[in-house]
Amino acid sequence: MKIKTSEFVMSNSDVTKCPNSQLPEYAFIGRSNVGKSSLINMLTERNSLAKVSGKPGKTRLINHFLINDSWHLVDLPGYGYAKVSKKEKKTFQKYITAYFEKRQQLVNTFVLIDSRHAPQPLDLEFLEWLGKNAIPLSIVFTKTDKLKPKVLENNIIDYKTKLMETWEELPPYFTTSSAHKTGRDDILNYIHEINQS
Ligand code: GTP
Ligand code: MG
Repeated sequence: MKIKTSEFVMSNSDVTKCPNSQLPEYAFIGRSNVGKSSLINMLTERNSLAKVSGKPGKTRLINHFLINDSWHLVDLPGYGYAKVSKKEKKTFQKYITAYFEKRQQLVNTFVLIDSRHAPQPLDLEFLEWLGKNAIPLSIVFTKTDKLKPKVLENNIIDYKTKLMETWEELPPYFTTSSAHKTGRDDILNYIHEINQS
């Protein structure tokens, strides 16, 4: 799929105020600093459509982007950022949970995982929660440019092995590097195929 147009629509903390449209929606979520905003910029070939920061916790709202006038891409705040207050964490959690429970337009959730790390309980719990709530998901292993191919391969095998302890069927997965601009076509073709079906 070619991305011809991409535009920012709105930021929100209230799912009931998200765009009132029936366009299919694809959400990107993951631990704070995992590279969600960078991935969105890479996918849309825009330098600063989504705000990127070296400091974790940059994205704090539900951000809607309209792509090709035909689907929404959503940048969600990162979970697991230690430096926000307990109160703020609860607020985040509330509106992210509400987003997943109420957003009928949501077609697929891309859960981003930093390819450098061993499986983390927080990510595994989040995947589990999506699975239990029957929310379609795929995994995106990010920042692959930071690893040697063999190490990446082993890390993914470890991840799959861990998931197989609890998942009957493994979700589809992608590998990406926003720095090297790899993995773009795989994700866009996947979205295109779902939109066509
Ligand atoms: P929050 O909004 O804070 O939760 O972060 P985020 O998940 O949106 O991450 P963001 O895209 O802001 O990137 C965080 C940091 O990681 C930035 O310094 C990026 O430049 C860097 N980064 C993101 N993707 C990649 C990648 O593929 N390769 C490398 N080497 N660095 C990356
Ligand atoms: Mg972000």
